[in-house]
Amino acid sequence: MRAEDIRRVLVIGSGTMGLQIGLQAAIHGCSVVLHDTEPAALDAAHQRLRGYGEAPVAAGLIDAGQLERALANIECTADPAAAAAEVDLVSECVPEDPVLKGRILGQFNELCPQQAVFTTNTSTLLPSMFAAATGRPDRFAALHFHIPVWSSNVVDVMPHAGTSAETTELLLAFARRIGQIPIALRKESFGYVFNALYTAMNREALTLVANGVASVEDVDRAWMGIMKMPIGPFGMLDGVGLDTVWHITDYWARQLGDPQISANAEFVRTYLDRGRLGLKSGSGFYQYPHPAYEAPEFLEWGVGA
Ligand SMILES: NC(=O)c1ccc[n+]([C@@H]2O[C@H](COP(=O)([O-])OP(=O)(O)OC[C@H]3O[C@@H](n4cnc5c(N)ncnc54)[C@H](O)[C@@H]3O)[C@@H](O)[C@H]2O)c1
Repeated sequence: MRAEDIRRVLVIGSGTMGLQIGLQAAIHGCSVVLHDTEPAALDAAHQRLRGYGEAPVAAGLIDAGQLERALANIECTADPAAAAAEVDLVSECVPEDPVLKGRILGQFNELCPQQAVFTTNTSTLLPSMFAAATGRPDRFAALHFHIPVWSSNVVDVMPHAGTSAETTELLLAFARRIGQIPIALRKESFGYVFNALYTAMNREALTLVANGVASVEDVDRAWMGIMKMPIGPFGMLDGVGLDTVWHITDYWARQLGDPQISANAEFVRTYLDRGRLGLKSGSGFYQYPHPAYEAPEFLEWGVGA
């Protein structure tokens, strides 16, 4: 199969990622079927898709006519057999639960055409965990998107040991075809490429502040001043949400038994205890809607230190 032969894409799970991936594929000419077990998710899908579609139109990436054609090319169904009919590629986007993902991939293996290529959008798991369940391990790999899909347009293509070279090449070409920058992982690795870098940066940023080495503002100032970025690690963590940051940090602290990661989790916890959840609560490491790092004088020596 060539990338141009992927005409119909099935997205399983019509949440944040499934909708964005479906929209991106439809914008680039695929016919898309969205499947979900929650009627509410399917009922809301078209309205949410239209909402998401406003961003690439506003950014000039597509025009309003292209958005309308893409939306007309997306159908929704709760019926797994109808969803699976005549699909060429499957993107599994159900919640991050290995048992659920394995079960869904096995179920759709029974329903989808034999030649269809299966992919998982998992953030933290590995495709080898589900390869057997797909019933087509050679035609299965991770195809991992970043949000928002149209502007953070980088896709990790991560094969497992049994993925065929043809499948990997096909997925790299498909990613390019739908306006993404493909990153070819040569072997399985937790966190792919960007997420691995990003996680390491966050861990070091939290360590510097939790250990009293530098202030939140100075860590961000160092990053912004050298990398010429509009935001630093702590500003970004505010955007993620400090409850989520705490959950992830606390999970890994317990998983690895690492005292430094535990100290980092406790440090984040002090913000949660004061109701400071980041951007969504109006305050986190910074105060919103006008965080200090957005002020032109932030990069001057000593401000906020
Ligand atoms: N949100 C992100 O920033 C992000 C980024 C990259 C990867 N991911 C990964 O993408 C996947 C989906 O994440 P999300 O944020 O879109 O989750 P989400 O919770 O927004 O959506 C998941 C959807 O799956 C549906 N679902 C649950 N069980 C199902 C089943 N048995 N059959 C069909 N649909 C079912 C739910 O009803 C829901 O609509 C996860 O593996 C996540 O780790 C998420």
